[in-house]
Amino acid sequence: MSDWQKSNWRNKPRVQMPDYTDQGALNAVESQLSNYPPLVFAGEARSLKSKLAAASRGDAFVLQGGDCAESFAQFSADGIRDTFKVMLQMAMVLTYGAKVPVVKIGRMAGQFAKPRSAPTETVNGVELPSYRGDIINELDFTSQARIPDPQKMLQAYTQAAATLNLLRAFSTGGYADVHQVHSWTLGFIEGEKASRYSQMAERISDALDFMKAAGLDSKVAHELRTVEFFTSHEGLLLEYEEALTRQDSTSGKWLAGSGHMIWIGDRTRQPDGAHVEFCRGVLNPIGLKCGPTTTADDLKVLIDKLNPENEAGRLTLIARFGAGSVGDHLPRLVKAVQEHGANVVWSCDPMHGNTIKSSTGYKTRPFDSVLREVREFFEIHQAEGTVPGGVHFEMTGQDVTECTGGMVAVSDEDLSSRYHTACDPRLNASQSLELAFLVAEELVKRRGTNAAIAAQ
Ligand code: PEP
Ligand code: CO
Repeated sequence: MSDWQKSNWRNKPRVQMPDYTDQGALNAVESQLSNYPPLVFAGEARSLKSKLAAASRGDAFVLQGGDCAESFAQFSADGIRDTFKVMLQMAMVLTYGAKVPVVKIGRMAGQFAKPRSAPTETVNGVELPSYRGDIINELDFTSQARIPDPQKMLQAYTQAAATLNLLRAFSTGGYADVHQVHSWTLGFIEGEKASRYSQMAERISDALDFMKAAGLDSKVAHELRTVEFFTSHEGLLLEYEEALTRQDSTSGKWLAGSGHMIWIGDRTRQPDGAHVEFCRGVLNPIGLKCGPTTTADDLKVLIDKLNPENEAGRLTLIARFGAGSVGDHLPRLVKAVQEHGANVVWSCDPMHGNTIKSSTGYKTRPFDSVLREVREFFEIHQAEGTVPGGVHFEMTGQDVTECTGGMVAVSDEDLSSRYHTACDPRLNASQSLELAFLVAEELVKRRGTNAAIAAQ
C-alpha cells in the first residue's frame, strides 16, 4: 500500500470524532502515545487473520463479544475475568455442541470510543454535547464532563494494557485449561441452560479422563491448557489509532497496535471518509458494520478499498439489520459479495438493530429479537448457499438486567435493578449462554443439511 500514510486520514472528511479545543494538549498526548509500546504484535494480527480465513470457509466460527463501551469507573479484575469466563463457556458450547473451532475475540482492551446517533443530549430542557465514551469525555450530565479531554487517551491506553495483560495471563496461565470447564460456571446462572452446560462439562471431563488414561493428553497438552484470545474495538478515535500505529519490521507493513482487530462502525463507513482511509492501510483484520442503509454499490467500493488483494480473513462484514429486516437486506449484500468474487467472513451483530425504549424508559433490547435476528441470519445464508461465519454481540459476565427476556426472564420493571452499562444494553451471562446454545443448534442444523446435499 505505497500510497498510504498513517496520517492521511486527516485530509479526509471525518465524522463522529471530537473537536479538541486545546491543540497543544492534544499534540502532547499524541506524541507521548507514539512513544509507548504497541499493545499487540503483527504476528498475532496475522494469526487472527488466518483463523478468520478458516471462518470464511466454514471451518471455524467467530465469537466476538464484550462491552458496548468499556468504562474507567467499572474497570476491575473481576469484570474482565467474568466476561472472559462467559466467552470460554460460549466457546465450549460451540466447540463441543457444533464441533467447530471457535475464534475468540473480545470487544475488550480498547473499546472506549462511541459513535452517537445525536451530537447532543437534552435532559429537562438542558442541552449538552453527547457522551462519546470514556476515552473522550465523561458520562456525567454537566457541561464540564462533556468537554473532550485528550488526556483520557492515556488512561484508556493504560487500562487497555492492563486488561490485555490479564487476558493473556488467563489465556495461557492455567485459567483457560479445559480441565477447568466446570469452574467457568458463574454462580448466579440457573435453570435449564445451566444444567445443560454442566451436563456438557461432565461429558467433556469424561473425554479428558479417557484421553489421560489412553496416554493421549500429553500430546496435545498445550492445546488443552491454553486458549488464543484476541482483542478488538471500533477504530473510531483516529488520533489514538494513529499514535499506536507501528511499522512491522518483518514485512514493512503498518500495524494498528491498539488491538488485534479494529472495525468500522455503521456511522463511519463513508467510502471517502477518514475512517475507511485509516483502516485500509493497516495490516490487521478489519471489520465493517453493514446496516439497512448499506448499498450494494457502496459495499463493493468498500471491499475494493479495504481488501484490494482479496485476502482471506482480512475483511469481516458484520451485519446488523434488526430482527424482521434481515431478509430485506442481507440477500442483496450477499449477492453483491458473490458477484464481486470477494472473500469475506459474514458475522451477525443481533444487537444494534434491536435497540428500543422500554415502557419504563430504559434503552433495552428484547432477547427474543436478538435470537430471531440470529436465526434469520442463518436461514438466509442457508438459502443463498453462503457461510455464516460468526456472531458479534454486546455482553458482560456480570449479572445485569439490561436486555429483557431470556430463560431467567428480565421484565421491563426489572431493568432498573442492575442496569450498569455505560452505553448500550448488554446480554448478561445467562442470556449469552442461551445465545451460544442457539448458535450451536443452527450450526448443527446447517451441517446436517450440507451433509444431506453432499450425499445426494
Ligand atoms: C457498536 O458496535 O457499539 C456500534 C455502535 O455499532 P454500529 O456501528 O453497528 O451501530
Ligand atoms: Co453498542
